Amino acid sequence: MKTMKIGNGELETSVLAMGCMRIARVDMETASGTVNTALEEGITFFDHADVYGMGKSEEMFGQILDLHSSLREKIQLQSKCTLVRDEVQTLYNDSSRDYIITSVEKSLKRLNTDYLDTYLLHQADTLVEPEEVAEAFDRLHQSGKVRFFGVSNHRPLQIELLQKYINQHLIINQLQISVAHTDLIDSSFTMRLKDAANVDKTGDALTYSRLKNMTVQAWSPFQFGFYGGVFMGNEGYPNLNAAVNRMAEEKNVSPSVIAIAWLLRHPAHIQPLIGTTNAGRLRDICRAAEVTLNRAEWYELYRMSILDEGKADLSSSAKPAVQEKKG
Ligand SMILES: NC(=O)c1ccc[n+]([C@@H]2O[C@H](COP(=O)([O-])OP(=O)(O)OC[C@H]3O[C@@H](n4cnc5c(N)ncnc54)[C@H](OP(=O)(O)O)[C@@H]3O)[C@@H](O)[C@H]2O)c1
Repeated sequence: MKTMKIGNGELETSVLAMGCMRIARVDMETASGTVNTALEEGITFFDHADVYGMGKSEEMFGQILDLHSSLREKIQLQSKCTLVRDEVQTLYNDSSRDYIITSVEKSLKRLNTDYLDTYLLHQADTLVEPEEVAEAFDRLHQSGKVRFFGVSNHRPLQIELLQKYINQHLIINQLQISVAHTDLIDSSFTMRLKDAANVDKTGDALTYSRLKNMTVQAWSPFQFGFYGGVFMGNEGYPNLNAAVNRMAEEKNVSPSVIAIAWLLRHPAHIQPLIGTTNAGRLRDICRAAEVTLNRAEWYELYRMSILDEGKADLSSSAKPAVQEKKG
């Protein structure tokens, strides 16, 4: 597996990361089979959050880690907090100093480790008091509990506000981006493919991240809408799937590989978070690290995605932010 530098280059890791959100939904044998496959394929980065499975995903990963005594130093563990949730929905965001520190301590315990490589604020909090975040980050950094910090689902100005107070350089912004969810790309350039008034939903977080040496991690790289399901094979994406399938055939890989190769081709050095709990699928998807799309192929997939916009049935998609069930 190829490696990449995160942020300013202080942290080196695999170009693909495993997202562990869904492992709470499978049994221990399946979860550990997927993690072992990730390791065999050279994936060293594992993404968590305190809310995944209400802590169960971290707990299961901690048990897997316990079985591999020399593994901890060879991998990078990330977690996040701020979403306060019951079993059904997000109730509110909490980015207060004490909440962040307590969340890290609980994650460390569940993950069976004494440090996290990276820690993110999961979602922007309109009640954020950046001085408190800065104090929490300082304490966590000085105590050796967290090496590097970042954010998720933040717009550029929200990051600017945090960075004004935080002493550590924020090195990651974890965002939703995929060939079936192109908002970040739409905001990052003008191509007259879309209604200009409607393209900037992200504050151009992609260009901002490049400017500030922040790595963009792509969450839900196969999903359309907000957890609408995978776009591959979905009748709402006829043009995109036709192009993806043709390229997959030409390159003798699966459509999933093409979807991830599309993300990897972007010079922003996007790190996809692969969420499958199926070891066979994961092994196949890892081939994406070896496939490079050319410019014409990349733009063709983008054009086809735009052509298909609005055709998919999004009724199964959860509503964003405070009403969502997952994430
Ligand atoms: N920061 C945020 O707000 C946020 C939000 C969501 C997710 N995340 C992170 O992003 C990671 C990935 O998210 P995700 O799980 O939604 O992403 P994903 O990789 O796009 O989706 C994986 C899901 O798609 C299913 N799937 C069905 N067919 C598939 C195929 N051919 N190829 C791949 N998957 C297929 C998988 O089922 P099987 O398991 O049966 O393969 C699994 O349920 C999460 O684990 C989490 O770490 C972050």
